[in-house]
Amino acid sequence: MIEFDRVTKKYKDLTVLDDVSFSISRGEVVGMSGQSGVGKSTILKLIAGILQPSSGRVRIQASRLGYVFQESRLISWKTALGNVTLPLRARGICPYEASATGRRLMDWLGLHGFEDTFPARLSGGMQQRVALARALAIKPDLLLMDEPFNGLDPHLKDNIFNLLEKKIEKDLTTVLYVSHYLEELSRLASRTIHFKGGKLT
Ligand SMILES: Nc1ncnc2c1ncn2[C@@H]1O[C@H](COP(=O)(O)OP(=O)(O)O)[C@@H](O)[C@H]1O
Ligand SMILES: [Mg+2]
Repeated sequence: MIEFDRVTKKYKDLTVLDDVSFSISRGEVVGMSGQSGVGKSTILKLIAGILQPSSGRVRIQASRLGYVFQESRLISWKTALGNVTLPLRARGICPYEASATGRRLMDWLGLHGFEDTFPARLSGGMQQRVALARALAIKPDLLLMDEPFNGLDPHLKDNIFNLLEKKIEKDLTTVLYVSHYLEELSRLASRTIHFKGGKLT
């Protein structure tokens, strides 16, 4: 599903990934940890094709990629529901159906009543949940999540974990998910890769 074959990634003089190889099979839920600035987001961006490796190869097999960015990256001039339905509309789903799916996901993530609110009027935790709903809208077969639960209160986090766990299991989604918190990682992931000094350990 995901294969890194001797991947090196440099930003000018800074080598962030140094000859890294790993693979993730279909249906695996993998966690990734590592200190801030070590290159975790870079790995996700390489998988999504937003960045290209400096050398080596990244191969992925996925027809529907869901990506929850570290900074939620919502579109400011669209409502919460408009953001969630955007990937569906882009795939040619009719407005009625897109809206029904979007509303269901928003209810599911505790965002009922905020469909018509613009991102700037939502709290950070709500913005993260809108971003999660948007990533899930297309029923991704590959889901990348970059510290998606930062800023959520513990109770809410717990609920979302439970829901996400069920959904991932049901849809057999392959997941790579970044977090600083080991307890978050062990909760969802069947294995965790740790990233340090340009290498996976
Ligand atoms: N577009 C970029 N240009 C230059 N340096 C970058 C760029 N993106 C990230 N970096 C640097 O690469 C390193 C890894 O960044 P990142 O992948 O965001 O780490 P992490 O997600 O683990 O915190 C950091 O030192 C960061 O400053
Ligand atoms: Mg990051």
